Amino acid sequence: MINFNPVSEASAPGKIILFGEHAVVYGRPAIAAPVSQIRATASVTYSSSNLCFLVAPDLGRLDRLEDLPEDNPFARAVWLVVEAANLWQPPGVTIRFHSQIPIASGMGSGAAIAAAIIRALAKHLNRPELQTNEMVSALTYEVEKIHHGTPSGIDNTVVAYEQPIYFVRQSPQNQIEPFKVAAPLRFVVADTGVRSSTKFAVGDVRRQYNKQPAKFAKIFDECGRIAQTARQAIEAGDVSKVGQLMTENHTWLQKMTVSSPELDKLVEVALQAGALGAKLSGAGRGGNMLALVTDDAMEAKVRTALQNAGAINILTTTLN
Ligand code: PMV
Repeated sequence: MINFNPVSEASAPGKIILFGEHAVVYGRPAIAAPVSQIRATASVTYSSSNLCFLVAPDLGRLDRLEDLPEDNPFARAVWLVVEAANLWQPPGVTIRFHSQIPIASGMGSGAAIAAAIIRALAKHLNRPELQTNEMVSALTYEVEKIHHGTPSGIDNTVVAYEQPIYFVRQSPQNQIEPFKVAAPLRFVVADTGVRSSTKFAVGDVRRQYNKQPAKFAKIFDECGRIAQTARQAIEAGDVSKVGQLMTENHTWLQKMTVSSPELDKLVEVALQAGALGAKLSGAGRGGNMLALVTDDAMEAKVRTALQNAGAINILTTTLN
């Protein structure tokens, strides 16, 4: 007899990619960090009906699990836990989820919702071995394939581990290294308001890489070198160097064609307002950018400049 928890809850943070997006898909190092103040949450409530329902108040949806298509990412998260737990049918539960993380903006909303559902359901089933960071990350990775096509694994890792990580995609096991942040890094995160599909951007970079492999391999190498150097700078507390490397990374992302006029504008105004560095974050073509600031006065100036340039959902997150 399995002892189900009557109500189980879990949450997962948003994330930003500090260095190395896209190049990370091709095995170059990258750095990502959680944004803990914006989260996805899931709750699993026991129901005597024997049916499994998914409820997404934000999306105005209530669906029976079995009615959802195979490529529905939320349903996929549930089925993955059902399979991993060796259940012969989904449990009779109502799974509610909600996210504060803007969708399609490079902040990992899809990965965070999946991780929250997976952890909450594993809790409900009283299966600690399915609640480890490693397992939550591995199952979330499977869901990420629906969003991304060929995900590197960095998004699911950072939302499941909820700590800054240095990440290299490799077999048989990805390199996942938490590292020391010697001096606080304060990032202003600003949204262009332009929604963009990660799958499309990643696919487009792949097409260009296939056409011009040498050119793109060089761009990826540069991004990897920047991520490596940035890790050293972060560990040494060299904040200005981190800023410089962010701006440098942005120029390589422009060459990769994943920036956009809106992202370039926000990067430019942030730098003019005194930010130590700025870059797009995530898949690009829209979504978010980051600006590195050091104190309240600089933060205020950068925020105002970003707002005047049309940014929305501006928030600040500090990495300690
Ligand atoms: O989910 P996003 O938009 O933050 O993009 C993920 C980062 C990419 O490097 C573009 C893709 C990947 O799988 O690593």
